[in-house]
Amino acid sequence: RTVYVNGEYLPETEAKVSIFDRGFLFADAVYEVTSVLDGKLIDFEGHAVRLERSLNELEMKSPCTKDELLEIHRKLVELNGIEEGLVYLQVSRGSDGDRDFVFPGEDTEPSLVLFTQNKPGLANSPAAQKGAKVISIEDIRWGRRDIKTVQLLYPSMGKMMAKKAGCDDAWMIQDGYVTEGTSNNAYYVKDGKIITRPLSNDILHGITRKAVLRLAEEAQMQIEERLFTIDEAKEADEAFTTSASAFVMPVVEIDGATLGDGTPGPIAKRLREIYLEESR
Ligand code: PDD
Repeated sequence: RTVYVNGEYLPETEAKVSIFDRGFLFADAVYEVTSVLDGKLIDFEGHAVRLERSLNELEMKSPCTKDELLEIHRKLVELNGIEEGLVYLQVSRGSDGDRDFVFPGEDTEPSLVLFTQNKPGLANSPAAQKGAKVISIEDIRWGRRDIKTVQLLYPSMGKMMAKKAGCDDAWMIQDGYVTEGTSNNAYYVKDGKIITRPLSNDILHGITRKAVLRLAEEAQMQIEERLFTIDEAKEADEAFTTSASAFVMPVVEIDGATLGDGTPGPIAKRLREIYLEESR
């Protein structure tokens, strides 16, 4: 695989970042995941705009322009022959060569790393046909989840708790209300209405969320953005999640409670279809 590191395209075994890099020592880094279908990037613009926002919120320099970023994405997709998969991008604050809680000086350059992941069959995934089983866990992450940082240890632990419970993923709960999935936004459907948590600092402002809500509106589906509890979601007709890496993923079980007949619901299936159609 060819990867990109600070201006260079290299074989993955030759790519290097300093051990003092603040991404490595402090999780002082932000990232984006952009999916690829039929060799084409999905919603690059949305991801580039969110990256800029994450960088601004953390007072981190932009490593390059949006056009340069697009060029790097396209070149990596081409060099690695990606038809279905994703491009991972990470910008870290870099380092002035030591470990220090204080941010390094203005002249320290951020480091920019990108790589591709080949995922043939992503659009037709058997997991989406089966639907996901989720457990709920307490949301103990920090308070700026709208910034897409690489502090992913707790979401990763949540995913492991789900696996150990024989499930696929975890939905997180704060003050009694569902925030989001470990790496996706969460929704349930009751009597034809789609319910999802409104945007705030408590959740990531999903790029797929925005696209899917627009498509749902265009398809005359009813949407309500409000706080909801896990008990409401357990009583739902159906549920689903959205993310760049899994598009629209139906959810068929929450904390052991089967939703509907235990297969992906019609609204989740329809949204997945129209999202994939529009993206291609
Ligand atoms: N995760 N919420 C969280 C906590 C996420 O990590 C993600 C994305 C989303 C969905 O955002 P988007 O639709 O822009 O992908 C919501 C990526 C895919 C990841 O960490 O791999």
